[in-house]
Amino acid sequence: MPLSKHTDTAFQKCIHPDCGREFDCSQVLFKCPACGELLDTQYNWDRIEVPDKLSRFAKRWADRDKPLDFSGVWRFRELLNFCEDKYKVTIGEGQTILQRNDSVAKYVDMSTSGGGCLYLQYEGLNPSGSFKDNGMAAAFSHAEMVGAKSCACASTGNTSASVALYAHSRGVKCTVFVGSGRIAFGKLSQGIEYGAQTIQILGDFDDCMRQVQDVCTRLGLYLLNSLNPFRLEGQKTIMYRILEGLGWEVPDWIIVPGGNLGNSSAFGKAFCELKAIGLIERIPRMAIINATGADTLTDLVNNKKLLWNDGHVEQAVIDDYYAALTARNFSPHTCASAIEISRPVNLKKCLRAVDICDGVVRAVTDEEICDAKAIIGKYGLGCEPASAATIAGLKHLRAEGIVGADERVACVLTGHPLKDPNLTVNYHKEKRSQFSNPPVEAPNDLDEIIKLIK
Ligand code: F0G
Repeated sequence: MPLSKHTDTAFQKCIHPDCGREFDCSQVLFKCPACGELLDTQYNWDRIEVPDKLSRFAKRWADRDKPLDFSGVWRFRELLNFCEDKYKVTIGEGQTILQRNDSVAKYVDMSTSGGGCLYLQYEGLNPSGSFKDNGMAAAFSHAEMVGAKSCACASTGNTSASVALYAHSRGVKCTVFVGSGRIAFGKLSQGIEYGAQTIQILGDFDDCMRQVQDVCTRLGLYLLNSLNPFRLEGQKTIMYRILEGLGWEVPDWIIVPGGNLGNSSAFGKAFCELKAIGLIERIPRMAIINATGADTLTDLVNNKKLLWNDGHVEQAVIDDYYAALTARNFSPHTCASAIEISRPVNLKKCLRAVDICDGVVRAVTDEEICDAKAIIGKYGLGCEPASAATIAGLKHLRAEGIVGADERVACVLTGHPLKDPNLTVNYHKEKRSQFSNPPVEAPNDLDEIIKLIK
């Protein structure tokens, strides 16, 4: 394998065991050129000075003057060591909070005694308001390393907002593809405001994802979707920060919404690596939660029994499934627009993560998502609809007895509540909503106003 001077600590590797070809990190690929499978970023751990204990990483945070130490991504840099410091990009991502939340715990029937069981990892605090910034810090560093001048992504909204923000901070030209009418207003407004050229395709996310890959190939644009293996390296740090928030103890469960399945893939890889290099002793279980209107993963895993199978995933099962979707002209639909995806590009990596983390997969209805979101908003820091799928899913898993009342669970709240204010206001205005809190009209009269105060 050729190793360049930039990247002797890391390389790209095809995930298919029968191929497994390796490529230098200086190559811009996004799929294995030999077999078309997904690529991983892999490390030569023996050439990396990894701290002997995870707690060593926390100390860096105190050094606010050093941007790479302050970054919630790069302060873990030895664990994603694919480029030199001079290429590393940060705009202050990853300053997130792991909040213990007993009120939400009660909603899902979890114990609140002892140390408390339910924790919410709030990624809405990122600069663009979602977890995507973790990945973009890493992917834009790779883009910097390879000298990319223009980039693109397909998006249900958050990726485009994040890409647009990082692109203008680096002076990189940026085009984003979104499904027309398929993206929450807050997210659309961000991409436009941050200066991205926004192309609204008459189609859904899966159509955009197909188009953007061809556009990037034809025009030589740098692709920032989670097919980009360097992006997923940044998203691993969400797990490191959960461990940090728990005093470096491994929780029993990680719960994450499933859309294009980048997060779940990255989280599984993070834990696998931490165990392999001896920084943790056990791997938590993971639950991935789809919306019922976009439940490809749930259907394939729970009904079609699709497995990672040491990398020998039954491609025919996936091909048949997608052919059936096409035959009935299926387009996914859920109010959680962020995860309205029916052909998740990281499906196989996600199956690997399910294998690594003894994972389970569930789908929840839009109503369950909206109710859970109202509870997270009322008792926690709030979140966007897709993020609330975690709590709705956990409620199922508690009812089924798969998650125990005393187990320690960390749910990843992937995005900020202001991403989709329309949905929030409509939910609360609707009297039939279980937790509605409608605004009250009042005449401009003191006595009448006072009568209304409860
Ligand atoms: N939650 C939010 C808020 C998201 O924006 C996304 C994905 C997900 C969860 C799903 O994460 O793809 O890693 O499984 N949003 C992408 C986008 C697709 O374009 O913004 P995943």
